[in-house]
Amino acid sequence: MRFDIITIFPKIFNSYLNESILKRAQKNKLIEIKIHNLRDFSKDKHKKVDDKAYGGGPGMVMMAEPIIRAIVSILNSKSKILNPKPRSRNASHFTTGQANSKFKKNKIILFTPTGKEFNNKMAAQLAKNYNHLILICGRYEGIDERVKKVILDLGFGVLNLSIGPYVLTGGELPAMILIDAVARQIPGVLGKTESLEEKRYGIGVPVYTRPVEIEFQKKKYRVPKVLLSGDHQKISEWRKKQKKI
Ligand code: ADE
Repeated sequence: MRFDIITIFPKIFNSYLNESILKRAQKNKLIEIKIHNLRDFSKDKHKKVDDKAYGGGPGMVMMAEPIIRAIVSILNSKSKILNPKPRSRNASHFTTGQANSKFKKNKIILFTPTGKEFNNKMAAQLAKNYNHLILICGRYEGIDERVKKVILDLGFGVLNLSIGPYVLTGGELPAMILIDAVARQIPGVLGKTESLEEKRYGIGVPVYTRPVEIEFQKKKYRVPKVLLSGDHQKISEWRKKQKKI
């Protein structure tokens, strides 16, 4: 799966996406993450990417053209994991359009607090049905509505996604959450010890590790006996009862 992120804060992503499981998944070429600084697609000498809203109002709106240029540039770019060896030099030359795209099965996602609420089922479906996601991180009052129209006219699907019922300062955290949730559904991304807990014994099942007993302020806290019993049937029944999802 290839993820392309369009943002005005590219540095935000470096630490989180380059640690632990996501770092290993990139190294193993199971996922590829490219971050694009929207300001690189501005033709303004001050690299401006936002402007006042038509109709008035205090907030700023993200301009359509830099975002459209960024999308076109992504569609023209090479992907190490989706297109390891282009057949001919011309193979990567096209201007716009789904029909020409090397990235089949792609979706463009706009993060907005008013979008469809993201959940684990959606993460699994995105992982299964797509191999390329372009994530556009909104800021300010939102994105010029014409971006959506252009994307649709290019022949791509647009998904307006909210990461939850609260308003954040931008789409960068939502993008990282989506990548994390989608990536862990891709076969091979989680190692054996980290396999999908929703498939193993369910999310929300209490877990314990050594020691069997801890003492804090003269009170003892013990691991439930059933987990020490060695009786796999009983343990599995106990876990089923605790399961939240
Ligand atoms: N931008 C601001 N708040 C958001 C949210 N909850 N989900 C997605 N994008 C957002």
